Amino acid sequence: MKKEIISVLLKEEEIDQRINELGEMISRDYEGKSLHLICVMKGGVFFTCELAKRITVPVTFDFMYVSSYGSGTESSGIVKIVKDLDETLENKDVLIVEDIIDTGRTLSHLIKMLKQRRPASLEICSLLDKPERRLVDDVKVKYPGFNIPNEFVVGYGLDYDQKYRNLPYIGTVSFEEA
Ligand code: IMP
Ligand code: MG
Repeated sequence: MKKEIISVLLKEEEIDQRINELGEMISRDYEGKSLHLICVMKGGVFFTCELAKRITVPVTFDFMYVSSYGSGTESSGIVKIVKDLDETLENKDVLIVEDIIDTGRTLSHLIKMLKQRRPASLEICSLLDKPERRLVDDVKVKYPGFNIPNEFVVGYGLDYDQKYRNLPYIGTVSFEEA
């Protein structure tokens, strides 16, 4: 039996501060417009709520549940749409809100799919990014939170085997023989 050890990588206050900045940037860029936020579940839920509270232009929400096949700490690149959006994107200014970009395959797939639905604009906001791990070159994050090293992280919506999503900080996971 392996024991999981979580070490703090980004404190709650640091994350809070960065989300304030992102909220200000987004509010400025979309001034005079309204914004349609797409929360990518499950990981993006906490971040979407915190970000939305700091956006001052009118906001609407929709939720999409995508999962990449596989478990543990590696994504497979095969993206399954578990729950699609409820509403059309046509002529809307759309912002995809993600927890983390790793290889980029999930978002690459999602962007191709959502562009076909004719939004007025489509941008990405991601709390975390592991640039070292990128395997695609067509994912541009307009609103990046933090670049982090190539380590598996949990908290603030991110899970390891569905656990730790509720941690108010971002932590790395390591394993120790119990
Ligand atoms: P990608 O398709 O490789 O970019 O993987 C993106 C998805 O894999 C994210 O939306 C997460 O759900 C998951 N993921 C990638 N890295 C981590 C991590 O360090 N912790 C938890 N989930 C992760
Ligand atoms: Mg995700």
